[in-house]
Amino acid sequence: MSLFRENVQNLHAYVPGEQPQESGWVKLNTNENPYPPSPRVIEAITKTAQDRLHVYPDPLGRSFCRAAAEVLGVEPDWILPANGSDENLTMLVRSFADSNDLIAFPYPSYILYETLAEIQGTRHARLRLNSDWSWNLKLNKPLIDQTKLLFVPNPNSPSGNRWSDETILSLVPPHGILVLDEAYGDFPDTPHQMELLRSEKGNQIIVTRTLSKSYSLAGLRFGFAVAHPDLIAGMRKVKDSYNCDALALAGAEAAIRDQEWMLANRAKIVATRSRLQNSLSSLGFDVIPSQANFVWCTHPERSHEDIYQELKARKILVRYMKFPNALAEDDRHPGGLLDGLRITVGTDSQIDTFLTALQEIVGT
Ligand SMILES: Cc1ncc(COP(=O)(O)O)c(C=O)c1O
Repeated sequence: MSLFRENVQNLHAYVPGEQPQESGWVKLNTNENPYPPSPRVIEAITKTAQDRLHVYPDPLGRSFCRAAAEVLGVEPDWILPANGSDENLTMLVRSFADSNDLIAFPYPSYILYETLAEIQGTRHARLRLNSDWSWNLKLNKPLIDQTKLLFVPNPNSPSGNRWSDETILSLVPPHGILVLDEAYGDFPDTPHQMELLRSEKGNQIIVTRTLSKSYSLAGLRFGFAVAHPDLIAGMRKVKDSYNCDALALAGAEAAIRDQEWMLANRAKIVATRSRLQNSLSSLGFDVIPSQANFVWCTHPERSHEDIYQELKARKILVRYMKFPNALAEDDRHPGGLLDGLRITVGTDSQIDTFLTALQEIVGT
């Protein structure tokens, strides 16, 4: 007999990407930034470690909120810091979804949304995308109309495409919240400046951001939500008292204040992204034009899983992903199975190593 809640007993737990702890890998599998964080982050963390570890941190992270508010052009009470953007997603589910509410998300997209809904024990629905990763509103509108919490990553993962602001606004559920997950929001050609929060539907939109990607801080665990203060105040009620530790708060504040550092790394990644996309196309892959720090590609003939394994044997890690029943009616993917490779944009030298190996594997 199991003593677990039924939905935990039956849960298919989320499996994070592989994180080898030994060196020697070319790691292009979990969309980390290949460049180090701003030196000011290290200074701030070191100082806090020396002075502030014996006392609790500010439960509201107000100093970080003031810094983020200045950068984003909102007031500090629009910001809710979290232990990684994943924690913001958990807070959202806890805040808005009862068991009879519907949580929805595009499919394929970030797999964690479904896991969070399963943990909470809410109804949930996959909103299937077209094979070109556009929205199929005809198919999905009836579900969106019933949705309480709709998660939309933009740019999307694993595809890297970005939906327009008009599309995003057309998705806001009439009686619910749209969570605009901008984990990759600094990488598009024209990054977002929170305009949607000022739109007519702004009171139903919550943006989530992370410092794991553009700010090179995946190891620190820090993200934040941005929304109308009434929504932020409600979500704050469900958070752990000290959800962000003193080191993370100090490092995150230093990182967000050093926009110059982040933007310089972003520019390098965007340039390498374009070279990677062109090279993958020359090697015979179909590539989705990316607005993120990774590229999704498929090969018309070769097994993606075999390519992944052959790269891994050479100590190069990319993400092989497989989505059953993925796409709305589509002859290109019989049975609806979609699989492919998601490659994080690394440094130029990592990408050269990857491309040389890939050329040997798929040889043209
Ligand atoms: C779409 C999306 N949202 C959220 C996250 C989580 O980010 P964090 O590291 O801040 O928890 C990721 C991480 O890969 C992601 O891909």
